[in-house]
Amino acid sequence: MPQGGAKPESRSSAALASYEELGTQFDQHDPRDQYTYMSSKFRSDYTLMEHVGVDGKSVLNVGCSFPVDELYYARKVDRWVSVDLSPRSLEGAEAILNRELHPDLAKKFSLVVADACDLPFEDDTFDMSICMSTVDHIPSAEARQKAVDEMGHVVVTVPNRWCLPYAAGIWKMTREKTLHYGYAHLFSPREIRRIGLRAGLKPGFFASSIAPPDVWLPGYPVVIRWPARLTFRLLRFLGYFGRRVGYVFEKPVRPRSGPGAPGDGTHSSA
Ligand SMILES: C[S@@+](CC[C@H](N)C(=O)[O-])C[C@H]1O[C@@H](n2cnc3c(N)ncnc32)[C@H](O)[C@@H]1O
Repeated sequence: MPQGGAKPESRSSAALASYEELGTQFDQHDPRDQYTYMSSKFRSDYTLMEHVGVDGKSVLNVGCSFPVDELYYARKVDRWVSVDLSPRSLEGAEAILNRELHPDLAKKFSLVVADACDLPFEDDTFDMSICMSTVDHIPSAEARQKAVDEMGHVVVTVPNRWCLPYAAGIWKMTREKTLHYGYAHLFSPREIRRIGLRAGLKPGFFASSIAPPDVWLPGYPVVIRWPARLTFRLLRFLGYFGRRVGYVFEKPVRPRSGPGAPGDGTHSSA
């Protein structure tokens, strides 16, 4: 993942100060107490994670903050590295993991202070990377692109510009300087898709905090199925206006070269 070249602006000191302060207040601001945040997270972030499959995998989490994802997936993963710009946030996260997890689970986690745009890991170190509501905190477009370039096979979610009441709230608080958290950019679903494409990744499954329920329609009476299908289609469309949206981006498999690779003259099709 390390690459040369001039570094784009990937942090602002005011935002970093607010992440540092938040890291000392995790006991008072536990996101698990916020029902709407958690339901949005389940619908978007965890739907994407389940789509990829997390069991027994090594995961890189870029932008950790409160370790809500770590606690949720501790039993399932094999190994998990959480990265954040803020040392205090990571200290707070480590204290929570040690307090809430059995030592056998807590030892799966490592916490590393690093910049999303300059990750200190070689390519293909992890089975998957996740980056939830973090690229939206990076100040420049160039740095946001660089962060996704760095991650490879990845689940990325962002706050959605088209969730109009939410976007209006962020805009008002930013203007009045009452927002305690450094949002730098709200995305449209198309925009985050384009960032993945520019990073050479293949956008796959899309998820949003507005989504149809997961029900098995053939099990329902026939009179219910058609109206339900229409309603679910409408909800899928409304997904583009959900508060948090994201994609699974896949890294295209590079064709092998060398002896035994297709086209080298030694390969035979059975
Ligand atoms: C909103 S929190 C993410 C919380 C969590 N992942 C979630 O799903 O809600 C954003 C985190 O990203 C971190 N962050 C912001 N810019 C970063 C960067 N350039 N590199 C690494 N972490 C960064 C902040 O310190 C903060 O803890």
